[in-house]
Parts: sequence; C-alpha cells; structure tokens
Amino acid sequence: MCGIVGYIGPQEAVPILLTGLHRMEYRGYDSAGLCSVSNGQLIISKRAGRVADLEKVLEPNEHSVKLGIGHTRWATHGLPNDVNAHPHTDASGRIALVHNGIIENYLAIRKQLENAGLQCKSDTDSEVLAVFIGMLYDKLGDLELAVQTALQEVDGTFGLVVVSTVDPDLLIAARRGSPLILGIGKDEYIVASDASAIISHTRQVIYLAENEMAVVRRSGYTTKTIANVATHSEIEEIAFELSQIERGGFAHFMLKEIHEQPSTFHDGYRGRLNIEDGKVRLGGLSKMQDRIREAKRIIITACGTSWHAALVGEYLIEQLARIPVEVEYASEFRYRDPIVNPDDVVIAISQSGETADTLAAVREARRKGATVLGMVNVVGSTIARETDAGVYLHAGPEIGVASTKAFTSQLCVLTQFAMYVGQMHGMSPELSRTIAQHIDALPGQIQEILDRADEMRTIAKQYARSTNALYLGRGVHFPVALEGALKLKEISYVHAEGYPAAEMKHGPIALIDENMPVVFIATKEELYDKVLSGIEEVRARRGKVIAIATEGDEHIKTVADHVFTIPSTLSILSPVLASIPLQLLAYYVAVERGCNVDMPRNLAKSVTVE
Ligand code: M6R
Repeated sequence: MCGIVGYIGPQEAVPILLTGLHRMEYRGYDSAGLCSVSNGQLIISKRAGRVADLEKVLEPNEHSVKLGIGHTRWATHGLPNDVNAHPHTDASGRIALVHNGIIENYLAIRKQLENAGLQCKSDTDSEVLAVFIGMLYDKLGDLELAVQTALQEVDGTFGLVVVSTVDPDLLIAARRGSPLILGIGKDEYIVASDASAIISHTRQVIYLAENEMAVVRRSGYTTKTIANVATHSEIEEIAFELSQIERGGFAHFMLKEIHEQPSTFHDGYRGRLNIEDGKVRLGGLSKMQDRIREAKRIIITACGTSWHAALVGEYLIEQLARIPVEVEYASEFRYRDPIVNPDDVVIAISQSGETADTLAAVREARRKGATVLGMVNVVGSTIARETDAGVYLHAGPEIGVASTKAFTSQLCVLTQFAMYVGQMHGMSPELSRTIAQHIDALPGQIQEILDRADEMRTIAKQYARSTNALYLGRGVHFPVALEGALKLKEISYVHAEGYPAAEMKHGPIALIDENMPVVFIATKEELYDKVLSGIEEVRARRGKVIAIATEGDEHIKTVADHVFTIPSTLSILSPVLASIPLQLLAYYVAVERGCNVDMPRNLAKSVTVE
C-alpha cells in the first residue's frame, strides 16, 4: 500500500527521502509528500500525483535539513488530492506524521477530538491520528509517551513515522500490521516500509515486530513495544543488490521481471533439488518435517496471483503426494470460522509477505493449532516471520505491480514441496528423477519462449482494442487461464475472465462473437482433444482463437487464428511454460493501449489493508 520513509542523520534529508519515495512508489502512487524539520518549523510539501510532481514544488530551503519524513500514498480514506496527501500534522502544526495502514476507530477518535475543539482538515484516518497525538502531547508533555498512548488506543494497522519541532533530534517509528524497517547507518538512520529505500545507505536493518517502536536520535536508537517494554531486536542484513531494484535497460520493471524468469526459476530450486536423484531438501521446513509427514490435509491460502499458484499447487500435491488439499482465498478463510485441526498443515503463499488478508489467515490457522508454513518472496516480511517454517521463493525484488516472476517461482517451490511430501510417502525414485530432470530443463525452455516474445507482440497488436477476452484451460491449466486473465485486466484494463474450458458451454459461450478473443491453453496433454472441441465451438461462433500450444503441433494451426508454441514438458510442469506467453500478451496489450504497466490504476504492490 503506501510507502513511508524517514531520515535522521548528518546528510541532507530531502534527496534521501525522495530517492526512497521513488524506489517505493510501486507501493502507492496517487499522491506524495515530504516534511522536513528546519529552524523550529515543519516544512511540508505534498500533492496529488507522482513523486516527480512533488519534486517540482519543493522549496529550495528544503534541501538543507537533516531530519524529515516522506510518503507515497495509495488512498483508503479520502480522495487522492493535495489535502489528503501525507504528511499530516497535529492541530498546532508542531508534530507531523506519515502513516501506512488503516485506523479503524478513527471516527470515534475524531469525535473525541471535536469534543475537545480540534478539527481535521482532510478526510483521512491518518490525520485523525496526528491530531490525536498532538492532543495527547499537550496533556503529557512528552512526544514518545504521546505516541505510545495514542497507539494503545488505536484499532487497526499502522506503520508510521513521527517528527516534530518540539524535539528536532527525535524520530519515532512504530508498526502494527504494516511493515517497517529501521536501517542503521554510520551516525544516521533511515526508516522505511521497504528495504529498497534503505539499501543505498546501509545493509544493516532491524525489521520492527508487531506493536514495536523505534525511538531514534542522532546519537542512537532504542526499540520497545508500544506498551513501553524494552525489546532487543536483532540486526539483520539486506539480502539483495541495488541492481535488482533498477530497470536495467528494460522499458518497464514488468518486462524486466518477465525476462528474469530463467534465472529466478533456477534460483528457486538451486541447492534444493538434486537433479541426479530427484531428492528434494527444503532446509526451511526441516523443523516441521514430522508434522508435514503426518498431515492429514493441506490447506493453501493466498490472494490474487498467489491464489492461482495455490490452485496449481493443489493439483501438484494431490498428484504427487496423494494428500487432500484445499485452496482458500485468505480473505474468506479468515472470517468463516474454518474447520482447522492440529494435524492440518496450512500453507500461506505470498510474494510480499505482507498481504493483510493472508497474514490474518496465518494467524487464524495458528490460533486453531495447525502447523503453518510460508512460501514467501520478501525476506524478513511479516508472514515469513509469523509462520512456523517456510521456503523462500528467491525471486528477488518484484517491483512491477503485476506479479510475474514471483508466480513462476511459487510454482517452482510448490512443485518441490509436492515432491518433498511425495517422497515422504513413497514416491518412486524414477518419478522423482524424471520430474527433477524436466524441472532442470525449464529455465532454458523459458528462455526459448522469451526469445520469441516478438511473436506475441504481433498478436497483441491485433487485439489491443478488444474490450473483452476469455481465457480457457483444463486441469492444471485452469489456474493458468485465471492468471492470464488477471494479468490482462490488471495492466490493460481489458475485461477478461478465466474458466475451465469445459465450463464455456455452461454460460460464457453466450459472449462469443467475432469480437471476442478466446485464449486457449491447448498443450498436448491428457485433455488435449477435449480442448480442441472447445476451440471448434468458439470457431463455430466466429470467435477469435489464440492458442498456446505444444511445439510441433501442426493440427492446431488449422483450427486456431493464432498459435504461440511452447516447448514440451511434463504436464504438471507445463503451467510454468504456459504462463510466460500470457504474461507477454498482457504486457504488450497494455503497452499498445498506452497504459502505465508498472503502476496500473487503483492497484498497489502489497495490499496491507483489508
Ligand atoms: O504479495 P501477495 O502475493 O500476497 O499478493 C497477493 C495479491 O495481492 C497479488 O498477487 C495481486 O493479485 C497482484 N497484483 C497480481 O499481479
């Protein structure tokens, strides 16, 4: 959701904050703002639009301060306009705050403030919190205590940073539900929602825990709970390189990330899968090995693209390990009082590791006594920390809002997990070896597909003005169809739906006419002939067929309008290859339509609110 950053140290704060905001802009990009503390004054600049728009209105004197905070917003309460942009101040204009999260009881607090004669100027829940802290400061005369007291009364989530003129050597950061990292440099500190805003200053960081706060001065910092109990957080090292969060010559992060998949997929199994004997070793799960072996049922919970990966995972685990699997939207799971037993294993899949719904599902499953595992990309993220054990995706930072490389890495990890559990239950060594060898061929096969990206660009150009699209696949390709449709709608704003191919005749077929492109995943696998029947049904109604087919399939060329071939592999691995052309299709359609591919409207990379 929003990105927040704060700096205290000997350097000019504003350039550091701006760089941080640019790097975190993928988290939210409808407005941006800065506050610096200078000569007993708060200097605030904020406006609707991008960080680049903010830069244009900065005052020259904002470039000589050593303390400040910044924010890039994804609106929850109130329109994205200048007034609602952060930072927000208390009523006296001495205390400023940036906030990521939702203050759920803000209406009750606002009432309390109004009764005390204090008004808010914006429609945001965040300003209510700033004014509340100011009111408490007036009573208590201590900013740290005022922040603690306010946060103890707040329901909801927050990652926040507070600065003030009342103590210009003090920066206070606190979190609950929204990520916050304290970077520890040489005589300087930078706090941010995301390590990308910190890495050019220091690799040494503390991931603040739930309900933890950092009280930071130029001379040092302390960490404690918001209830004022001292904590001793470990200093950790940021694991990625700066180059990984730069575009590296590609037009968009999404395109770069699509093209990174040969190596990111490989990173997902390197050191885990022995290609010679097919044995899988998932070190992160070793302490839960017995619980996993004894599991009677596996529940996978996730949102969005990660949920699509979970559906593929269901297929893989049931095939290879013969353990029943259920897949649940995390947002539904958390509220429906699910039946979860202590001998269930619950897996949470999340690229960001911060998705609020998935995190809540993790907590619910743990509360009910299940063993909870994480399959997460972002190292040190909340879900990674709150699960009993886990496997990192190792896809590297994913900046494009539309998830691509994280999806294929999720498939990579899920395949190995299915083998890992299968091997616990007697999966044959021959099958293990065969799968391992086919997995090891996938990076090269992904590269072969990417080398023909222009073929997909040509197809995309012809359909860039379509207003609807259907994506159809059977078996393990049904989730791939869902994912293809999601990619298209997210970044090109074309309405698209994914269905199991056989479901078309039960309703969606009514939509087919000469203007409807239908993308079939029609690879040569078990249900190929049945998919062909679906293609014929679309043709009979003059729909346009784009087929993702297996190399060497000559017949498909006679029935589809466009064919994009992918190399042959095992059917359980085929979703990895089939999803690549669909990512390219969505990307090129969006580019052709002039859409902002990396920052699509209304979306944000990590959804840390309900
Ligand atoms: O970070 P997560 O994997 O938990 O995120 C889940 C969804 O919000 C995410 O996959 C979303 O659907 C993406 N925009 C998909 O491209």
